[in-house]
Amino acid sequence: NKGHYDHYMQKEIHEQPESLTTTMRGRLIRGGSSKSKTVLLGGLKDHLKTIRRSRRIVFIGCGTSYNAALAARPILEELSGVPVTMEIASDLLDRQGPIYREDTAIFVSQSGETADTLLALQYALDNGALCVGITNTVGSAIARNTHCGVHINAGAEIGVASTKAYTSQIVVMAMLALAIGGDTISNEARREAIIDGLFDLPNKVREVLKQDQEMKDLAKLLISEQSLLVFGRGFNYATALEGALKVKEVALMHSEGILAGEMKHGPLALVDENLPIIVLATRDACFSKQQSVIQQLHARKGRLIVMCSKGDAASVCPAESCRIIEVPHVEDCLQPVINIIPLQLLAYHLTVLRGFNVDQPRNLAKSVTTQ
Ligand code: UD1
Ligand code: M6R
Repeated sequence: NKGHYDHYMQKEIHEQPESLTTTMRGRLIRGGSSKSKTVLLGGLKDHLKTIRRSRRIVFIGCGTSYNAALAARPILEELSGVPVTMEIASDLLDRQGPIYREDTAIFVSQSGETADTLLALQYALDNGALCVGITNTVGSAIARNTHCGVHINAGAEIGVASTKAYTSQIVVMAMLALAIGGDTISNEARREAIIDGLFDLPNKVREVLKQDQEMKDLAKLLISEQSLLVFGRGFNYATALEGALKVKEVALMHSEGILAGEMKHGPLALVDENLPIIVLATRDACFSKQQSVIQQLHARKGRLIVMCSKGDAASVCPAESCRIIEVPHVEDCLQPVINIIPLQLLAYHLTVLRGFNVDQPRNLAKSVTTQ
């Protein structure tokens, strides 16, 4: 049921304040005193000790689910102190890459039925790793075959393009980082700031969704382009990959997410006055590096669209030569949840304006159950 929306993708983008609320329900506990802020993931509580003691955490997934894990990787590394590596399920299988008994392998999948992810799960089980699932589908193959896990509880996702599952996956993995990190004194202030940020996140998502018309206007401007680059780094490298995936998947426009730190190692050659480039430059520890990326793209006459934190337009684009997308500021590890939303809206409007099928892009299936 699409309600008053024209498409499922549109509905699912706009219901993110509610889906995120459901994802967090009963799992974030804020007592009377500030000291009692905690996270409770029922499915993991008996396994946290094993995870903390593991030699490595390996995230495994495909497509958007892989991108969600990539967005959560920095906070998991920071709070757990355990090395975190990333595997695209098919690539792990192609290489028969090493997975050890001392590893915790975390399988991220909206459907819980993706063939490559399931085969990688079997492979990790055979190699003796602790296997954890993060899925949206109760009773799915991944939920059944992992040792333990967390349901993201985002509600059914119908549109082939994953939107609300992505943001709920990131939130679950941020909660996972908090749960694994435990209650060390050195992390206390950081942990509390993240929990407060999580409580407030649905409101901030509501705020950024108000940019719908602005993103439609931007889509009108980009409707006939051949290509769109998205530059991100740090917490928002994943946002660049995921934004580009949305654009190519539904709007059928070539788009590439680029790690901004790699700019001078090749991508800079593409920059001219015609190619549109989105630069993600919201406030975090990488902000000044992104400011310098913007200056260098600007010096090559790049056609820039800069996403920045509210009030930062002048600091990212002094010459007023670029288009600005201003988003609310949240705790750095939660910023990917906010930053992807204008890009989801952009992909949606581009698709509708270009006259393509939003909910069922050509050649794609919601659940990829064959290799
Ligand atoms: C569970 C109940 C929820 C109830 C809550 C009350 C289910 C599905 N969930 O939620 O309805 O309101 O208790 O305390 O009945 N699991 C895996 N692999 C996965 C995902 C989950 O093995 O990929 C396992 C978990 O380890 C856990 C079970 O499935 O044993 C349920 O997981 P989850 O729904 O996340 O647990 P709760 O949030 O505690
Ligand atoms: O169900 P899964 O999360 O395992 O699916 C993984 C990918 O097939 C999926 O995310 C795909 O990339 C989406 N269509 C992207 O929007």
